[in-house]
Amino acid sequence: MKLSDCHNFHDFRKMAKRRLPGPIFNYIDGASDDEVTYRRNTASFEDIDLVPNVLRGVRSIDLSTTVMGQKIDLPVYCSPTALQRLFHHQGERAVAAAAGKFGTMFGVSSLGTVSLEEARKISPRSQVYQFYFHKDRGLNRDMMDRAKGAGIEIMMLTVDSITGGNRERDKRTGFAIPFRLNLTGITQFATKPAWAINYFTHERFSLPQLDSHMRMEGGAMSISRYFTEMLDDSMTWDDVADMARHWNGPFCLKGVMSVEDAKRAVDIGCRGIVLSNHGGRQLDGSRSAFDQLSEIVDVVGDKIDVMMDGGVQRGTHVLKALSLGAKAVGLGRYYLFPLAAAGQKGVERALDLMRQELTRDMKLMGCSSICELTRNNVRLRI
Ligand code: LAC
Repeated sequence: MKLSDCHNFHDFRKMAKRRLPGPIFNYIDGASDDEVTYRRNTASFEDIDLVPNVLRGVRSIDLSTTVMGQKIDLPVYCSPTALQRLFHHQGERAVAAAAGKFGTMFGVSSLGTVSLEEARKISPRSQVYQFYFHKDRGLNRDMMDRAKGAGIEIMMLTVDSITGGNRERDKRTGFAIPFRLNLTGITQFATKPAWAINYFTHERFSLPQLDSHMRMEGGAMSISRYFTEMLDDSMTWDDVADMARHWNGPFCLKGVMSVEDAKRAVDIGCRGIVLSNHGGRQLDGSRSAFDQLSEIVDVVGDKIDVMMDGGVQRGTHVLKALSLGAKAVGLGRYYLFPLAAAGQKGVERALDLMRQELTRDMKLMGCSSICELTRNNVRLRI
């Protein structure tokens, strides 16, 4: 299978599956419990239909928009995701470079495998730093000061991961960082020698955002243990208000789902919120962000930028979210499978396909610019 054979999300996923050892593929592909929310995330886009207008003169299409004060050329951005060099040796470098080429923002995770400072130098476009609230308050402050010093524009605190989701696929393979695999896991690695050679002939795995605070040599750390042992489950709105004040710039919460919480985010001075269920990887049975979108936009949409992520695979999914009032839409697995499949070239192809779809779909909708998309363009099916 070649990169040029990939025309959509499913093709990239298939190519990534062929290349990656099972435990790594399943870490990306998997979600929590019965993965109901994971499936619902994409399915929810199908409950709403687009209603196009015609004969509006759509020769030139402007896909640019402004979110949290940052002008971006596409209404989609690369959400921060963890451990990218495990998927392809280029990791975050590839994602930063591709996002930069397409003029959109990207996020670097606290669990990123390239330092936020290095990523900052790769793309001239805005960068989000994704942050978890650790028990160690000194670590929290250090991380924010470090991000400030590096010139990061947006601080994004993930609030849906107060404890680890129940990722049963990872339990079966023993997925952990660095590797500590059970027998099934090891067998799966042996079947992907090309990945293994690539991985072991490049720079050693590390977590540069956390390395000075977390000892990795003492054994493997599962994602679930990181969440449970290092993150502070006593965190409250007052703690986050202090953090937003300390940051003193665009601050945003990722993983808000209720109207009540959206209002509190406004009260503590957030510039934006990302409606998200963490790609279905945390609370299974949670509503999809797309289903919650209009309710939240109605209440806080004039005070704060509302974004969403989860299950986005198509340009039309993005247009539906924008029509309901999202300011921009986050992509996760949408660019991770291409990264795993082909590195930077893969991510670029995925973003290019998204741009082509958005341009084509905007023309078919009779819209020349993003701000023309409104609730009149969508109808609930039932
Ligand atoms: C995950 C975290 C690390 O979903 O974002 O695996």
